Amino acid sequence: MKRIPLFELNWDDEEEREVIKVLKSGWVSMGPRTEEYENELRRFYGIRFALSFNNGTSALLASYACSGLKNQVIVPSLTFVATVNALRFLGIKPIFADIHSLNKPLISVDTVERVFNPKVSGIVFVNYAGYSDFVDEIREFCEDKGILLIEDASHAHGAKYKGRFAGTWGRVGVFSTFANKNLSTGEGGYMITDDEEIYMKARLFRSHGMTSSSWERFKEGKNRIYDVITVGLNLRPSEIQSALGIANLKKLKRENENRKKLVKLYRKLIKDNLPEILIPFDDKDIESSSHYIFPIVLPKDIDRESVLGKLADLGISTSVHYPPVHKFAIYDDGTELPLTEEYSRRTMTLPLWGNMKEEYVYRVVEGLKRCLYSQ
Ligand SMILES: Cc1ncc(COP(=O)(O)O)c(C=O)c1O
Repeated sequence: MKRIPLFELNWDDEEEREVIKVLKSGWVSMGPRTEEYENELRRFYGIRFALSFNNGTSALLASYACSGLKNQVIVPSLTFVATVNALRFLGIKPIFADIHSLNKPLISVDTVERVFNPKVSGIVFVNYAGYSDFVDEIREFCEDKGILLIEDASHAHGAKYKGRFAGTWGRVGVFSTFANKNLSTGEGGYMITDDEEIYMKARLFRSHGMTSSSWERFKEGKNRIYDVITVGLNLRPSEIQSALGIANLKKLKRENENRKKLVKLYRKLIKDNLPEILIPFDDKDIESSSHYIFPIVLPKDIDRESVLGKLADLGISTSVHYPPVHKFAIYDDGTELPLTEEYSRRTMTLPLWGNMKEEYVYRVVEGLKRCLYSQ
């Protein structure tokens, strides 16, 4: 039987056509296709500025560096380590907040308030698994305290919570377009913002603080010399990444719709067949998510590693989102986050992608049943 992967790309002739256009154009470093991709992103989100990067970590680094975060910043520990490493790299101390509950594994005003102190300059909200519950309350909290809100919305491309896009609740929204994301360019990332100052700073930061890019100078047709007015790095995307983004963005709504249907089926089958498994979030929350991943929480007394091993033997790929960041050697200062730790111990992620066959969902749930009942 065919092995079920955790994820499959939805790339087809459309991505191929766009990439070939770039290859034939003779301009492969950041240029016209990147401008076009950023315009498409702006239109999609209905936002003033979008800036694309060579990966999501770069987009985080530029957003943090250019939005004025300093001293200490509150972050969830239940995230990919990049959310936190980019802070640490800038000399900012991450302050870890616990998740609200096993059912809502997101930071909330309650958990943020517990760790808030006067040195905190901002909060990074991560829309885990594509959900944005509590982000509106956290935004009010940030306004009250006069601190910044930034979203690492890498899981939530195109998701709308309370009628508003994930990534537009904070001053800046940051997204990774790594291979397995709902919007994929293989490697890549972007930031969106309505704040012109942050945008202008991040643009400079993306390319060594240079006042113009090679493409801009070529387009002008004047052999103008550039100046360097601030420090920066080379975090530029290639035209191939941008071409992939242009093609893949057109599929995002359909991708998210397809994922939602599969998640509804997963939730029903698991509830009917394996009621002891906790499925995070409520049925009514489903509409607000992009369903980047489908995590479940196993019963307390189950040996997760043995379940993961048995599923692998049945040809079913799984993953764990995430090992808690505050327990990684580099960050472990004895901080305890009981709910994050329990969630991380008991969670596992099941296969999910937009074009996944329903038959696979049945196979995964059947496999899970066999694993749990033959413990
Ligand atoms: C929540 C989150 N933040 C940041 C990143 C980092 O993005 P990238 O791998 O594109 O650098 C990822 C990627 O997996 C992510 O899931």
